[in-house]
Amino acid sequence: MDAQTGRRLGVWLIGARGAISTCVAYGLSGLRNGLLEPVGIATSRGPLGELPFVGFDEIVLGGHEVVRGDLSASAGDLVRNGVLSAELVAASAADAAAFDARIRPGALDGPDVGLADLDPEAARLGAAAQGEQIARIQADLEEFRSSHELDRVVVVYVASTESWREEREAWATLASLEEALERDAAELPASSIYACAAFRAGCPFVNFTPNRGSSLPALSELAREAKLPHCGNDGKTGETLLKTALAPMFAARALHVLSWQGYNMLGNRDGEVLSDPIRRESKRRNKDEALRAILSDPSVHTEVGIDYVPSLHDWKTAWDFVHFEGFLGVKMSLQFTWAGSDSALAAPLVIDLIRLADLAAERGEAGEMAHTACYFKSPLAGGTHDFHAQFRELLDYGERVLNGS
Ligand SMILES: NC(=O)c1ccc[n+]([C@@H]2O[C@H](COP(=O)([O-])OP(=O)(O)OC[C@H]3O[C@@H](n4cnc5c(N)ncnc54)[C@H](O)[C@@H]3O)[C@@H](O)[C@H]2O)c1
Repeated sequence: MDAQTGRRLGVWLIGARGAISTCVAYGLSGLRNGLLEPVGIATSRGPLGELPFVGFDEIVLGGHEVVRGDLSASAGDLVRNGVLSAELVAASAADAAAFDARIRPGALDGPDVGLADLDPEAARLGAAAQGEQIARIQADLEEFRSSHELDRVVVVYVASTESWREEREAWATLASLEEALERDAAELPASSIYACAAFRAGCPFVNFTPNRGSSLPALSELAREAKLPHCGNDGKTGETLLKTALAPMFAARALHVLSWQGYNMLGNRDGEVLSDPIRRESKRRNKDEALRAILSDPSVHTEVGIDYVPSLHDWKTAWDFVHFEGFLGVKMSLQFTWAGSDSALAAPLVIDLIRLADLAAERGEAGEMAHTACYFKSPLAGGTHDFHAQFRELLDYGERVLNGS
C-alpha cells in the first residue's frame, strides 16, 4: 500500500508534453492503478520509504507547454520506441486526458529550436514584458491551486535546454532584479521566469534541467524570503551518474586518472535541441564540472562530446574511456558503454524530487535542498559530486526527519 498523508499535492510540470513529463504522468497513473511497481523510486524503498511522503494517488498534475497537440501523441512516440507499454497507455487514457486538459500555454523563450506546432499564445506571452510573463504564470499556478483545492503546488521544470547566458548584474540581488523587471531589462531566461513566478505563488521549485532556473542569487534570496525550498540543476540520470559513482573509486585507490573522455549519442527531442551548439554548451558545462571536482586534479584531461543521432530516439548511448596510471607507472584503461532510455531513467527521479520538495515545504525548510544533491549533475548545494557521499547525505536527512529533528 502506497503512503497516504491526507493532503492533496498539485504538481505543475513546465514542458508538460515533453518525454519526461509524459513518462511521469503515465508512470503515476500506472503506480496508482497498481499496474507498475515503484522500480527506480528511492522514496518508496528502503529507509527512505519510511518517510511521510505524499501518496501517488494524492498528486494532481497540471502544467505549461509551448507546443500544441496532446499527451497521447507524445505517449504514442514513446510506445513506438519501446519506453511505454501500449497496455499502460490504454489503461491510463482517462488520467492522461484529465492532465492534458489542465495544460496551459507557457512562455516561449528565444527561437523555437526543434519545436513543431508552436502554440501562438505561448509565442505571444514570450514576447510580452518579463514582469507580465511572471504575473501570468503566477496567476495560472494560483488558479490551479484554488480550483483543485490543493494543499500545495510543487513546480517542476522539465522544459527544453536553453541557450547558455552569461550572468547579468541585475540577477545579483532581489532588489536589483525587481528594479530591472520594472524597466523590462532583467533579461531572464524562461527557466528563471518560471522559478520567479513559482516563488511568488508560494510554490517550491525543482529544476531538472541544466538551465539557470532558481540558481540566480536574486531568486535564491526570493526563495529564502518566501520560506520555500528549491533544488536543481540538471538531473543525474545516466553517464554522469556512472562517472560520479566510479570516479571516487579511482580517488580512493590513489590511482592517477590521466584522461576521462566521454561521448554521448542521443536521438530524442532533447537531443535535437542539444544539436544547437549554444544550447549544448549549458549541458556540457554541467557534465565536465562533476568529474573535475571529484578528481581534484587540474591536469586531468576531460572532454564530453554530445551528438544528435535521430534513429536512437529516447535511447541514449554513452561511451566513456578512462585512461589511468597505476603503481610502477603502468598505464591502464577502463571503458564502459551505457544504453539507457533517458525518460524512463528521469521520470522516477522527478517523482522522488516532487515528494522530497513537498516534504521539505511541509517541514518549513527554506532555501536550497542540499540533501537532494545526489539527483543532480550540478547541485545548488551539497558540497560534493561524489554520488556515494551525496546519497549518504540523503539517508542522514531521512534519519533526521524520522527522529523529529
Ligand atoms: N532525460 C534525462 O535523462 C534528462 C537528464 C537531465 C536533464 N534533462 C533535461 O530535462 C529536460 C526535458 O527533457 P525531455 O527529454 O522531456 O525533453 P523534451 O524535448 O521531450 O521536452 C521538453 C518540452 O519542453 C517544452 N518547452 C520548451 N520550452 C518551453 C517553455 N519555455 N515553456 C514550457 N514548455 C517548454 C517543449 O515543447 C517540450 O515539449 C531537458 O532540458 C533535458 O536536458 C533530461
